[in-house]
Amino acid sequence: MKNFSNYNDYSKKENLKFASKAVHGALGCEPLTGAVSFPIYQSSTFRHPELGVTTGFAYSRLQNPTRQELERTLAILEEGEYGFAFSSGQAANMALFTWLNPGDHMILMDDIYGGTYRIATTIFGKYGIEYDFVDMTDIEKVKAAIKPNTKLLFIETPSNPLMKVSDIRALSDLAHSIGAIAAVDNTFLTPYFQRPLTLGADVVVHSATKYLGGHNDIIAGAIVVNSKELADHFTVQLKSHGNGLAPMDSWLMLRGIKTLPLRMEKHNSNAMKVATWLRNHPRVEKVYYVGFDDHPQIEITKKQTSGFGGMISFAVDSIETVHNILKNTDMVMFAESLGGTETLVTYPTTQTHEDTPEDVKEALGITKKFLRISVGIEDPDDIIADLAQAMK
Ligand SMILES: Cc1ncc(COP(=O)(O)O)c(C=O)c1O
Repeated sequence: MKNFSNYNDYSKKENLKFASKAVHGALGCEPLTGAVSFPIYQSSTFRHPELGVTTGFAYSRLQNPTRQELERTLAILEEGEYGFAFSSGQAANMALFTWLNPGDHMILMDDIYGGTYRIATTIFGKYGIEYDFVDMTDIEKVKAAIKPNTKLLFIETPSNPLMKVSDIRALSDLAHSIGAIAAVDNTFLTPYFQRPLTLGADVVVHSATKYLGGHNDIIAGAIVVNSKELADHFTVQLKSHGNGLAPMDSWLMLRGIKTLPLRMEKHNSNAMKVATWLRNHPRVEKVYYVGFDDHPQIEITKKQTSGFGGMISFAVDSIETVHNILKNTDMVMFAESLGGTETLVTYPTTQTHEDTPEDVKEALGITKKFLRISVGIEDPDDIIADLAQAMK
């Protein structure tokens, strides 16, 4: 049996396949006692043996053994060097944008989670960081938006909620050619289906509240990078903002990650069935789903991902149908968020994209007849039957 002498004796388990890495994490079991379920180190501070001697831990705002195990597991799964676990996806995005200095410019995907839009416009705009929202599915539009001070391309793919797919490799190459970095919000597909760092991106960011946590029971964020310079930046951000994920929530995410491959497969197959059914429903005008053969960027999807995920958006025929779905579904719940075991239906215009200006939403197609569904892992027949009775 391996002798676990300390917390730095971990393995990247490069010989193992993704599902085994997800189950076994970094240290796998706890080094002191051999506990198979990595413990929750509910301690704010750590005793030192003597002056100048440390166990590797000092104070949980800086680092905590449970969070460290999670961060290493995240890095292993994203095939990066350094992982960071934040108190929310928004906290992770905040830490990312502080990479920029006043006077810098960033280009963000035009269809993007509303909270990220808010961070860019209301917070960083105020500190003198310029921004432009561009349809990144068209690389020529991104090239046209580049300025001498462009330092960050922020890619969300598939995008929330219109499911547009951007070419991570091409955009990362473009960013590097102008001395900028490329960051990818990988919330929708997770490292199980898409690993942006292996496609050239510099930063991968997550709302880990979603599929990584997977059970609608935590709010969390994650970042993984390869460069030491970026890693040092995020270490300082975590230490200074104090927005690291708490031990209990770190443990819940570690537990969620163990079943990530199983859940993602089921989300994926359920979503294909629900999307196909929705597409044939007389009250549905348009279905946005990256797995359709006629999705505008299906070739890029096939090139850079190994699955389609569990997210679907759709436009219906009337406001009345919207009301019927949100009021009459029984098992399927009308609630914000996504990526959990339960199927949730969301109304982006007043929920996730509440703070995105009306004209921007209208131009994108996030209208009052537009809904988003996060397909859970229930029996797909029950999901479809519930939607069918609500839409009668
Ligand atoms: C794609 C995406 N990124 C980031 C976030 C923000 O994450 P959190 O809610 O964990 O702060 C969300 C939340 O819905 C999201 O959908």
